[in-house]
Amino acid sequence: MLSLDNIFNEKELKDFHKRLLKETECENIEYIIEQKYDGLAMELIYENGTLTRGSTRGNGIEGEEITKNIRTIRSVPLKLSEDDFPSRLVVRGEIIMLKNDFLELNKRYEEEGRKVFANPRNAAAGSVRQLDSRITALRKLTMFVYGLGEALPNKYKADKISTIYDYLLKWGFKIGRDLVVTTSIDQIISLHSKMEQKKEDLDYDIDGLVIKVNDIENQQILGELTHSPRWAAAWKFKPAEAITVIKDITVQVGRTGALTPVAKVEPVKIRGVMISRVTLHNPDEIKRLDIRIHDSVVVHRAGDVIPKVVKVIKEKRPKNTRAFKFPDKCPVCNTNTVKLKDEVIPRCSNINCPAQIIETLIHFTARDAMDIDGIGTEWIRKLAENNLLNDISDFYYLKKEDLLKFERMGDKLASNMINAIQSRKEVLFNKFLNGLGVRYVGERNSSVLAEHFKSLDDLIKASLEELKNIYEIGPSAGESIYNFFKTEQNLNVIERLFKAGVKIVYPEKSGSKLKGLKIVVTGTLNNYTRDEIKRFIEDNHGKIVNSVSKITDYLLAGDNPGSKYNKAQELGIKIISEKELEKLVSE
Ligand code: IVH
Repeated sequence: MLSLDNIFNEKELKDFHKRLLKETECENIEYIIEQKYDGLAMELIYENGTLTRGSTRGNGIEGEEITKNIRTIRSVPLKLSEDDFPSRLVVRGEIIMLKNDFLELNKRYEEEGRKVFANPRNAAAGSVRQLDSRITALRKLTMFVYGLGEALPNKYKADKISTIYDYLLKWGFKIGRDLVVTTSIDQIISLHSKMEQKKEDLDYDIDGLVIKVNDIENQQILGELTHSPRWAAAWKFKPAEAITVIKDITVQVGRTGALTPVAKVEPVKIRGVMISRVTLHNPDEIKRLDIRIHDSVVVHRAGDVIPKVVKVIKEKRPKNTRAFKFPDKCPVCNTNTVKLKDEVIPRCSNINCPAQIIETLIHFTARDAMDIDGIGTEWIRKLAENNLLNDISDFYYLKKEDLLKFERMGDKLASNMINAIQSRKEVLFNKFLNGLGVRYVGERNSSVLAEHFKSLDDLIKASLEELKNIYEIGPSAGESIYNFFKTEQNLNVIERLFKAGVKIVYPEKSGSKLKGLKIVVTGTLNNYTRDEIKRFIEDNHGKIVNSVSKITDYLLAGDNPGSKYNKAQELGIKIISEKELEKLVSE
């Protein structure tokens, strides 16, 4: 799925408009202005009016599960509501969580002592990615549809986005509110500033406006670049800002030993959220902005990103302040720091640094790793300091008696913690890899590795060469992964996890797109021999059958098809070409 080009101000909007006028050779252009929903992009496929597939963008791994999850969202029709629909319909939209539903969910989580979500978008993303669709069903999600993945057949005369939306509404989809069709750039500008004000009053999060050419023919003239259509643009709202005072600067040690400076600030509300800590990123950033304790600063908060300092108000600087001196030793274990080439962040070089161990333990429980919910970071710290958690496998060997020795630990809390840990033993391959805390292997690379390797054993056995050559992994990560799995201590920890009952769930690979589908082939194919097409279908877990019947899913028809073609038509079996079959597999 494509993404959108950004425009940042009125001038860029006017330039965008000028370019479009020139390229379409029109006197004016009709735009449709929509809100930019801050959620998760989704594609839904309907075949013969029934939802058959729903997938997130860029996450092939949990595809099968997502369909089940999507089916639980009430604003997604399982069946299209009017008869007059195309036999295949591909719609795109954004899954969001309404602000109220988000607040309610977080309140419940807080009461249960679980980690809360940072914002509705994260909550929505976490909810559709659940392994268990019953959990998704409990989370209230909404989907706004904003486009098609494939054009409607000609008979619909869908010559404008607004016409397409009329159809989509009729078929049962939810379309965003406050759509405006206009040819006036001034109106777009005033809409943008009005919406920026109104944003906080909406019952869902938006982060800007999307400006699209309404006329489909003009869209086709303008075409697409590799990543974005040239007929649309996103105009985001300015991030929220506030002025506050730096009270202190501390240096935190992360999971990989990275030393990150953090400023404590006088608490200040930015668009409804109270801010008391902001990131200063790295020593260079402190120097670049010359940030000092007691300075008045401008703080930005954009979406869910950790607020940051963007400017020091030098006129307000009190006398006698001094430039901040960044420590050259780890503030936790006092080991000398090192700075790797190409990196701006100094790191603690002691792999047994308690701060790194604790952060690795915390990371292991994260939602994108083992998703252990009942044990907060303060307890993890305390248990680690008391040698009850020395590595990630220790979680599974904690005993209630051990926990009960601590003050403020009751019977119920101890049981809850143990249950929370023990109930999280089945884990998707990518999340397991993420949980190991291998340097350079976060959420993204874990997914890449999980796609590439059939199993953990295969990954452990992989050569340095193979790892480095995986597209998107690269040399540094490749080396780090290789060394990790060559270190006996790490293999022992993994072994101990398995002994405790941790089980990796391997997702179906993308090669199973035709799983369960029965396909009949007829006529002369252009690009495949009969053997080749058989292999192609079977490689993708489909099945070739000889004769057309009610249970046939597709008839693949080449040139001069035989009687099977008529039979398929009679029975209403979907007839597809080689191209369409390839498309089914590659999506
Ligand atoms: S149209 C060709 N319309 O913004 C791309 N996108 O930056 C089609 N988004 O991934 C996108 N609201 O998830 C479109 N009204 C809207 C949108 C919208 C939110 C998201 C979408 C996309 C991202 C692009």
